[in-house]
Amino acid sequence: GELPLDELIASLTVDVPDYPEPGVLFRDLTPVFADGVAFRRMVEGLAAPAASDPRAAAVAGDGGVDGDPGFDVVVGVEARGFLLAAAVALASGVGVVPVRKAGKLPRERIAADYALEYGTATLELHADSVRPGARVLVVDDVLATGGTLGAAIALVERLGGVVTAVSVVVELAALGGRVRLAPHTVHALWTT
Ligand code: PRP
Repeated sequence: GELPLDELIASLTVDVPDYPEPGVLFRDLTPVFADGVAFRRMVEGLAAPAASDPRAAAVAGDGGVDGDPGFDVVVGVEARGFLLAAAVALASGVGVVPVRKAGKLPRERIAADYALEYGTATLELHADSVRPGARVLVVDDVLATGGTLGAAIALVERLGGVVTAVSVVVELAALGGRVRLAPHTVHALWTT
């Protein structure tokens, strides 16, 4: 039979000690992305929780439509989140919207700061990219402290989007991101 998805992801992930700095164990997911079967299963897994979220049907107001993925758009976070979000959107029949690092979006935008280990960084979203009431699946590769996804969720909600699901490939549980993002529930394909 086939491996459970968390075991498949774990088996293909390459741990890189002391990257990007001494003492950090970097989880390199690029071999998981490069594996066709793993990539397809990841994309399916990332989309799955939204379909079963009762808010998805409630916002739609019709009790749920057969074949409705539970979201109207996928928001992906720069940079590795882009690879996943585009694939999830295509597989689900919806569009994809980028949350980008500061200075990359050309038109009217909103911005949110988030904490890094030293200092802060900024994420941005085009002001017209999420319509009020749109159901949004937010996707990224890794949940660590939750600062990045927290900022991305805040941006979507400031535009009136309804975040019906938050999905990541890997949750680094010791860093506390899940607690930080409450009341949003994070769907992680692998928690370590
Ligand atoms: C990594 C990762 C997540 C974020 C998670 O991105 O891809 O987006 O960090 O960390 P957090 O939960 O502590 O915020 P990074 O900032 O390295 O950017 P990149 O994808 O553009 O390399």
